[in-house]
Formats: sequence, structure tokens, C-alpha cells
Amino acid sequence: MLKLRLSICLASAIACCPSITAQPLRQLTDQRGILLGAAADPSHLTEAPYADTLAREFSQLEPENAMKFGPIHPGPSTYNFGPADALVSFARGHNMSVRGHTLVWHNQLPSWVTNGNYSTTQLSGILHDHINAVAGRYAGQVYAWDVINEAFNDNGTLRGTIWSDSPGIGLPGTAYMEQALRWAHEADPQALLFYNDYNAEPVNSKSDAIYKMAQDFLSRGVPLHGIGMQTHFSSRPGSLASIESNIKRITDLGLQVQFTELDVRLPVDSSGNATAADLATQAQVYHDIFALCLKFPLCTAIQTWGFTDKYSWIPGAFPGNGAALEFDRAYQPKPAYTSIQSALQTSPPVISAAALTSAASYANNAVSPGELVVLFGATFGPASLALSQPDASGKIPTQFSDTRLLFDDAPAPILYARVGQTAAVVPFSVAGHANTKVEYEYQGVRSNPVIVNVAPTQPGLFTLDSSGQGPGATLDASFRLNSQTNPAGTGDVILLYSTGGGVTMPASVDGEIPVVAPFPLVSARVTANIGGVDCPVQYSGGAFGLVAGVIQINVQLAPSIPFGQQPISVKIGDATSQSGVTVWVR
Ligand code: G3I
Repeated sequence: MLKLRLSICLASAIACCPSITAQPLRQLTDQRGILLGAAADPSHLTEAPYADTLAREFSQLEPENAMKFGPIHPGPSTYNFGPADALVSFARGHNMSVRGHTLVWHNQLPSWVTNGNYSTTQLSGILHDHINAVAGRYAGQVYAWDVINEAFNDNGTLRGTIWSDSPGIGLPGTAYMEQALRWAHEADPQALLFYNDYNAEPVNSKSDAIYKMAQDFLSRGVPLHGIGMQTHFSSRPGSLASIESNIKRITDLGLQVQFTELDVRLPVDSSGNATAADLATQAQVYHDIFALCLKFPLCTAIQTWGFTDKYSWIPGAFPGNGAALEFDRAYQPKPAYTSIQSALQTSPPVISAAALTSAASYANNAVSPGELVVLFGATFGPASLALSQPDASGKIPTQFSDTRLLFDDAPAPILYARVGQTAAVVPFSVAGHANTKVEYEYQGVRSNPVIVNVAPTQPGLFTLDSSGQGPGATLDASFRLNSQTNPAGTGDVILLYSTGGGVTMPASVDGEIPVVAPFPLVSARVTANIGGVDCPVQYSGGAFGLVAGVIQINVQLAPSIPFGQQPISVKIGDATSQSGVTVWVR
């Protein structure tokens, strides 16, 4: 997560802006901060409508078969990477993400494995080598893997497979899956690692078993990052509420959830056509699944198992059924496509109070009047970062890039906006309130409201590092950066930059960029301490050319401050800035 700091906040008080683009599904999901994927087959890439639709509409692809054990590892020392490589290079050529499927599965295994009569030790070695070879090869190209696929029965018991107990790799229970995850993590430490299954979308015996395993793995630091829900549905997918509860409990563990193989099969006639009524029902199911995912910031991808009814596993597996995907056999969008668009454009963004932080310290327990804040995780917004600029009145606008952040219905000046991260200045009108109702809005679609405490002041010092810790964004009297090679000495005046100073005298105007002194002064008492020594504050107030809410504090270094990198903090009113911020002293 790109944490944009003082430099951007400052820049936004002065600078320029991109705009939001048109409506293929890919762009709509980009505005949702989720990936939209499709299972793909390299043999169809030479078919123009297939390649064009895949690249235009999807931001992710997953090999439907090419990365599975059998197809990619047909002989003990023979790998067939060609088909998978073709998909990876197609994805790279179209700026798409690649999701890997699957390293450990009981299906599509090569005969040299299934008929090898190997011992558990030999099988363990074979699996380790396979995971290392395949996940290792695509390290940096595949961002996530279904490491284990379909290891539980619908009643929640472990499925008996060559990897688990027939004869297995010599590890009891779920331990073989733990081992596979650890091997995958060794092969590619950056990849997100998933457990993937079907019929485990709602709360049931199977999803309970998966949940229990996930809890256990997380409690012991096993590298598991998410749960894949295959989502192979009929037009009556069962209780959405139960699926929601399952997603909630999994994401409450901090795990991602991805819908990995979505399709909605329908009865079809002998020409493969479904009725208009069934297509409408299907469209509703697609809508509801997308809307459900958008309720959870940790639901990070939705993938359909193919995308055109021309190429789908459904008719082969469910005779008399088909038409399961969002494009028909002629690559024309179906009602499902339109309902997905609608879900992506109308589902309310979701925000949480804990995700609203100081733009300087990242404190998230309260906001104060005029404080620069960042809202993380809102699930709807500009697909790419947009920096605001002063409007005709010279103020930072309260609506920018179709984005608003409201505090008790008062819109805040927006500094920059992007899906998942928006910065703004808390309106000074929250002063004196115990708390404030915060709502986020994009393209007129308003989020859930959250209640956030209001503190009179909440000083945060801007730092050079995006962590809010370490060397402060501190200048000397000649506006040169304080550093190890430009330390401050006794008697020197340094300029600190902060936010969260609360109300000013005279009152500041939301979004205003002061350029003519005198600038508004912080009303509360401001003190400073460097290296344990109290230092006189010569000025604390608005800063030239920086939006109201950014506080410049001029501090004179008192004698007897120890040399070197010293902790620095300011106290405004009753609140003290974050610890861990430093200044260089000579
Ligand atoms: O590549 C061979 C080809 O050489 C041969 O001529 C042809 C005729 O037998 O078979 C081809 O292999 C087929 C392969 O798909 C590639 O098309 C296999 O027989 C066929 O069984 C395999 O089906 C795949 C199936 O997994 C295997 O279980 C489907 O395409 C694929 O959509 C499906 O995907 C699974 C996910 O991986 C896991 N979740 C369920 C999902 C649906 O079953």
C-alpha cells in the first residue's frame, strides 16, 4: 500500500490531475480495487475475439489447465512450461495479473505419479521438487497460487488422496497441506498462497473444516494468505447470508477471500441456449456475488471459470446445462455482464473507522479539526491516483475526481484520491464535537457511515519515511532538509511540519492555501522537546503555500541537547505527537 506522505500532501496543495475512464468490466473493477479474472486456455489466444475480450475485460487470468501437475510436469524430469508461459506472456503483454492453479490436487496427475507406487518419502520429494520447480519458475510473475485444491470432503472430513494418505507424503491430517504451503513460500516468498475449494462458500461442514484449518495454520505462522471459493453455482446458489457470514469469519482472520471459478450454469436446449427468464435469474446471481464481494475490502478478486459460453467445462460435466458465463458463444455480453456492471457501479463502498488515520502519524483513534487524514480501504474510487489542485477560489476542492469525504455531512477538502486510499482535511467545523459521522462517496454512491471520535488536537509530525517514523520532514532556516550532513546546532531554528493542531486564531478556512502572512496561529499551547530537552517554540501556525491544516512549528534548539539523531516531539494542547520521530543535532 502506497502511503503518500507530506511530499504528496504538500504537492497537492499546489499541483495537477488525471480523470476516470470508460466502462469495460476491467475498468469498473479497477475502480473497486479488486482484480477481475478469467480462467484461460492458451490454445484459444490465436482467436482474435477470445484474446481481445480477455485483454479488454479482465485484469487477471488463470491457466484453466496449463499449470496443473499433469499438463506441466508430464514426466519425472520433464516439464512442459510452453502453454503456461504463453499465458504468462499474454498477461504481461496486457498488464494483467496471473493467478496460479494448482500445485497440490488429486486430479489431473500424470500417470508417472499415480502409477509410480512411490513410498511416502519418495512422494514427498516429488511434491517438494514439483512445487519448487513450478512456483519457483513463475516467482514474480504469478502473484497468487492455489497451493492446495479440494482437500476436504463435503462432510468436512479430509479427502483421501495420493498426497494425504494414499499413501500420502508421510504427514498426518492437514500437515501435508502445511508442508506444501511452506514449500511454496520458500519457492516464492512474495506469492500469496491460497487454499481453494468448491461447495464451501456458505457456512457448512466443509467450510467449517477449512476455517478450523486456517485458524490453526495462522496460529502457528503457516504461510496461508487466503481462501479461494470456487463458486460453481446453479441459478439457485443457496443462502447469500450464509456465504456472507463465511466470508466475514475468514476475513476477520485477516485472510483474503477470492471467488476463483465463478460460473452459474443453466438448463439449455439442444443448441445450448438458455431461456430469457433463466438468463435474468443468472444475471441476478452474478450481481449478488459481485455486490457481496464488494462489501469486504479483503475480498480481493472475482474470477469466472472461462468467460465465453463457447469454452466452458459445464456442458461436459453437467449434461443439459451450459450458458454459465458472462459472454455468449459469439463473445457478446449477456444480461449477466450488464448486471455485473451495475453491481460494480452501484454497490456502496465500504469503509471502517479504524482505516481513517492521521496522514502524518497514522494514529487512528480520533480526528481533530483541520487534520490531514487518509482513509484506507474504501472499495470504490479512481482507478489511478488523482492529485487535486486549488479551484478557481484558490481553495482545495471538497469534491474531486468524483470523490467526497463527509464529516457530519460537511464535505472535506480532498487532497488526493484513489480506490483504497483517499486523503482529505477534516473540516474545522468538527471542533467541539465529541465525535463525527464520516461517510465516503464516489460517483455519488455513498458508503456506510462510521462514527469517529473528535479530539481538540492530535499532533502528528510528518516524516520523510512513509512509516510515520524516523527522520522528520524538518527544514533549517534556509529551508534545507535537516539530515546527518545538515544537522541543527544549539540556537538554530528548525521548521517542523505537522498536522492535527486543532483550531487556529484567526479561524482557518477549509481548503484555503495561505500565501500572505500573517498566517493563522495554532490556538492551543505548543511545546517541543528534543532529546529530552524542552525547546522554545517560536512559531506554530499556517505554512506558506500549504493547505490549512498543515502546521509549521519553528523550534529553537536549546543548549545541552545530546549530539546525533535525537527524538523530537511536540505537544499541542493536551496531546503529544507520535514517538519515533527524530532530528539530527550537532
Ligand atoms: O489435453 C488433453 C488432450 O490432449 C486430449 O486430447 C483431451 C481428450 O481427452 O483431453 C485433454 O485434457 C483435458 C483437459 O481438461 C484440457 O482440456 C482433460 O481430459 C479434461 O479432464 C480437463 O478438464 C478440466 C478439469 O478441470 C479436469 O478436472 C477442465 O478443463 C477444467 O475446467 C476443470 O477445472 C476444475 C478446476 O481445476 C478445479 N475446480 C473445478 C474445475 C471444474 O472441474
